[in-house]
Amino acid sequence: MSEQSGSIDVLRSQIEEAGKLGLAQVEAAATSADLESARIHILGKKGTLSEVLKGLAQVPGPARPQVGAVANEWKSKIEAAIAVKKEALEQAAMDAAIAHERIDVSVPSRRNHLGGLHPITQATRLVISILSRIGFEVATGPEAETDFLNFEAVNIPKDHPARDMQDTFFLGPGVVLRTHTTPVQMRTLMERPLPLRILSPGAVYRCDSDATHSPMFHQIEGLWVDRGIRMSDLKGVLDFLAKELFGSKAKIRLRPSYFPFVEPGAEVDVSCTICEGKNARCTMCKGTGWLEILGAGMVHPELYRAARVNAEGVTGFAFGMGVERIAMLLHGIPDLRLMFQGDLRFLRQFP
Ligand code: PHE
Repeated sequence: MSEQSGSIDVLRSQIEEAGKLGLAQVEAAATSADLESARIHILGKKGTLSEVLKGLAQVPGPARPQVGAVANEWKSKIEAAIAVKKEALEQAAMDAAIAHERIDVSVPSRRNHLGGLHPITQATRLVISILSRIGFEVATGPEAETDFLNFEAVNIPKDHPARDMQDTFFLGPGVVLRTHTTPVQMRTLMERPLPLRILSPGAVYRCDSDATHSPMFHQIEGLWVDRGIRMSDLKGVLDFLAKELFGSKAKIRLRPSYFPFVEPGAEVDVSCTICEGKNARCTMCKGTGWLEILGAGMVHPELYRAARVNAEGVTGFAFGMGVERIAMLLHGIPDLRLMFQGDLRFLRQFP
């Protein structure tokens, strides 16, 4: 009996010793990894406390629950200590992170570089949006165009001197890179019923290149055919366009001119957007007070004939402008070539 109680005491003190040692290990853990290895070392399958408890099998029946209770007490003490330590370590880790990983929310964020529309596209869309408010619709056509539609049908026959004016790129027999978007007017005359009120924007090509000419550039042409359309309607539409584009002070003037596809024809100027005609040394208008922006006129009867449309009782006007020129005037861009160089320092000025 006394021998038995002796071995129970030994076991009990072994448990106490393993428990105390275990608690000290938990206390000493400096990181969560330390803590986890302490837990395994004490409570794991082959842990110190578990090993001691294997001796429990030798304890005779009646004393076993007592010793077991002591063991369980130590086990829960250690588990509780682990939980407390775990929280303390996590809190410390969080504090360290907050101290080091400071985020200054007042620092400006990095600029998001969104692409922008090219100033030519912007100017094209601007003109279209202005004129669509008074009923113009967009019509398009191919850039490789037949000689017939680019020239013949719009009253520029083979021997006509105006062909030289246009400096054409020839693609093959009977096919050219269109030199203006006037052939789109022909296409719509041929395809759509009257009345017509269209805008034809797009790239055009002429064999010419310097500070004011590019071999590829963009036009927007307008065509309005209906009963009773007169030159004064043309003037009204262009005056509206000029004021919407350049401001309510903008004025226009028409000077008689020649284009084979209109009669009468005119060149149209807008009052200088820079000096408003007040500076004799203005570099924009060269002191004239006027800037040429487009060509226009009343549709030549020959075009209706070529399109085989019955134009009895209808009349129409047409106008055409260079989009680059409009964009240059809108933004004060000094050299046409800037438009085609793709230099981001230039393009970023037109967000
Ligand atoms: N097609 C002419 C050009 O390219 C512009 C224009 C269009 C002139 C319509 C008059 C009427 O220069």
